[in-house]
Amino acid sequence: MTGNFGDYQYEIYFQGLGGVLPDLPMTYADLEARAQAALPPGIWSYVAGGAGDELTQRINATAFEKLGLIPRMLRATRDRDLSVDLFGMKLPSPIFMAPVGVIGLCAQDGHGDLATARAAARTGVPMMASTLTVDPLEDVAAEFGDTPGMFQLYTPNDRDLAQSLVRRAEAAGFKAIVVTLDTWVPGWRPRDLSTSNFPQLRSHCLANYFSDPVFRGMLAKTPEEDPKTATLTWVSQFGNPITWDDLAWLRSLTDLPLVLKGICHPDDARRAKDAGVDGLYCSNHGGRQANGGIPAIEHLPEVVAAADGLPVLFDSGIRSGADIVKALALGATAVGIGRPYCYGLALGGVQGIVHVLRAMLAEADLLMAVDGYPAIAELTPNAIRRLN
Ligand SMILES: Cc1cc2nc3c(=O)[nH]c(=O)nc-3n(C[C@H](O)[C@H](O)[C@H](O)COP(=O)(O)O)c2cc1C
Repeated sequence: MTGNFGDYQYEIYFQGLGGVLPDLPMTYADLEARAQAALPPGIWSYVAGGAGDELTQRINATAFEKLGLIPRMLRATRDRDLSVDLFGMKLPSPIFMAPVGVIGLCAQDGHGDLATARAAARTGVPMMASTLTVDPLEDVAAEFGDTPGMFQLYTPNDRDLAQSLVRRAEAAGFKAIVVTLDTWVPGWRPRDLSTSNFPQLRSHCLANYFSDPVFRGMLAKTPEEDPKTATLTWVSQFGNPITWDDLAWLRSLTDLPLVLKGICHPDDARRAKDAGVDGLYCSNHGGRQANGGIPAIEHLPEVVAAADGLPVLFDSGIRSGADIVKALALGATAVGIGRPYCYGLALGGVQGIVHVLRAMLAEADLLMAVDGYPAIAELTPNAIRRLN
């Protein structure tokens, strides 16, 4: 894409002059409502649901309503620069697609990981591919085009299996390994419990395991011959309660940038930095894991301060371009989009994701343009006013 991200609005208005109205939603509320209608109920509730009564999930998003961007005038520029450097990658925009383990199932053809990778290729917005995919990580990476990808690792109990997954990600060309720390045990999710719905137990999204030589070596029969035993083996492998003592081993797994996902406390941020990680990822998993009651954006400034120059990725509750801008102003190096792109995929496949990403970037760009912050470097905490 060339020009400013905000130019997307002219495309839409000009098409309107020719009588063509957009068929994809322009607001998050509409996106969510239409995705609900489009997705099978079990997939919808798995994606939309969260832990407990979903308080954390709700306030992750509404917390952004309590943050305002202070307009500054006479600083207008025709061109804005939203590019960022992340682990040596020059990205055209400051967003990425957060790892979503069932994104594969959100596509109408059941191959949503490939669709997400294709949307990454079209937009330059990196995909952070989950360990839990419908298609193996090699097939996903093959669709990235020129856009770099990152691999999110759920650390298996078996260290050789962990090593094998990381080696495969390296060989497939992923540019960073992101270890998720907050999901060694599933959180209490009433929506899924009430329908007894846990897709992986039905053998969904386990392609990276079923295709892995180390995992296959644990089985007497192949996953194709005996998927039930393979799935039970996955259960025994999935939840590794890793501790600080394991961090040196994790670090030793790869020379790629290593990022820890789920860091919310400044002490954890400092300790991770001291242990030699390359980046921190401040996130509460979209409120899906723990219903502790603090919106993720509240943690960001402290984590950024403790990171002391180390890149800090952020997600949880980003629903609009304005939210992206506010997270950047509070110190995020790059901002993860979660549920919105799942819904875009459900509605319109690759084009649906591309639309959601372009719309969010257009809104971010135009907000920065109108309010006088033409470059990301100018977005600092001083640009934010906290509202009561
Ligand atoms: C359906 C679903 C599946 C997810 N799967 C993963 C995953 O496999 N690995 C991971 O690290 N995070 C996973 N996440 C968490 C996201 O990476 C991200 O932290 C979260 O979606 C941010 O919250 P938001 O979507 O409400 O903005 C998942 C989120 C959703 C909605």
